[in-house]
Amino acid sequence: MSQAKPTILVTGGAGYIGSHAVLELQRAGYETMILDNLVYGHQDIVDRVLKTKLIVGDTGDRQLLDRLFSTHKIEAVMHFAAYAYVGESVTDPAKYHRNNVVGTLTLLEAMLAANVKKFVFSSTCATYGIPETIPIVETCPQNPINPYGMTKLMVEKILADFATAYDFRSVCFRYFNAAGADPEGLLGEDHDPETHLIPLLLQTALGMRESVSIFGTDYPTPDGTCIRDYIHVTDLAIAHILGLEYLLKGGKSEVFNLGNGNGFSVRETLESAQKVTQCEIPAIESDRRPGDPPILVGSSEKARTVLGWSPQYADIDKIVYHAWRWHQKRHGTEKV
Ligand SMILES: NC(=O)c1ccc[n+]([C@@H]2O[C@H](COP(=O)([O-])OP(=O)(O)OC[C@H]3O[C@@H](n4cnc5c(N)ncnc54)[C@H](O)[C@@H]3O)[C@@H](O)[C@H]2O)c1
Repeated sequence: MSQAKPTILVTGGAGYIGSHAVLELQRAGYETMILDNLVYGHQDIVDRVLKTKLIVGDTGDRQLLDRLFSTHKIEAVMHFAAYAYVGESVTDPAKYHRNNVVGTLTLLEAMLAANVKKFVFSSTCATYGIPETIPIVETCPQNPINPYGMTKLMVEKILADFATAYDFRSVCFRYFNAAGADPEGLLGEDHDPETHLIPLLLQTALGMRESVSIFGTDYPTPDGTCIRDYIHVTDLAIAHILGLEYLLKGGKSEVFNLGNGNGFSVRETLESAQKVTQCEIPAIESDRRPGDPPILVGSSEKARTVLGWSPQYADIDKIVYHAWRWHQKRHGTEKV
């Protein structure tokens, strides 16, 4: 008889990437539990799709965490809970440092107290700032240019110190642009406010917005618009399972980029969205935004080599198609 797999606590599991990770954990046979304060998460998704235990609470609530770890046998934590609006992090950095750094430190201390010492962390390519070389590898300098990226870098540093001092083992994933939706259509992206390009394009196709803005058309790229690395959310989720299993087998703390290695420009992404939706999507050409590097593309060779990960959905049309099916269901006539 096969042994039952352990229980994994997923913070932020009612959000976009966390919910896909819970689904993949369940598909791989793990028991799951979610901690989410529902500031941005969706309870209906947990209730109807994930059907797992949801603890509505905050990673900064030490008493709640102590109760949680003493009443449940948790083997490892996947930590997605954070605020992730770059612009807001510039105008209200205290909110970001409190939630993303202090909240995470509180969680880590509660884990130490409960002797739970395996941690998978959502970091970001925003920790690199303006890259000096493309594709970006893990050893590139990390010079974040906004408080959001800085909060993630600070947690990476805390995790490195914890590894040395407490034998606390973590996998940090620096994601590029998460996009797409569960290929079976069960989950997808539903941020409010929405700032990511692909959902903005699809909401415009659905008539929820009048147009999308293209920020900058004079970059030194083939079509003048910025190039970004879109990584399918299910590929991200599967990488988290591989990262978890690496830690369960005794792997030491590591950091991995997760991107699909192919960059797509804003115009290429717009064209893909028009092809997939069969809709004309009005786009307004605007000035560059400060702090937007022309090209952000990551190398994920290390994740391929060490974890055996490879993205299954690297094609932009496939990513947009899965997102479109979800958007039609979530926001179109057939509401979910
Ligand atoms: N979306 C991307 O492209 C991207 C790229 C790089 C990194 N990330 C990181 O991935 C993670 C998930 O991103 P997402 O796009 O799914 O965001 P999301 O907002 O959809 O999910 C985050 C979830 O965490 C919850 N949360 C926030 N603070 C909390 C706290 N203190 N306690 C409990 N719950 C809390 C929110 O309610 C939400 O459900 C974040 O850490 C983000 O910084 C995302």
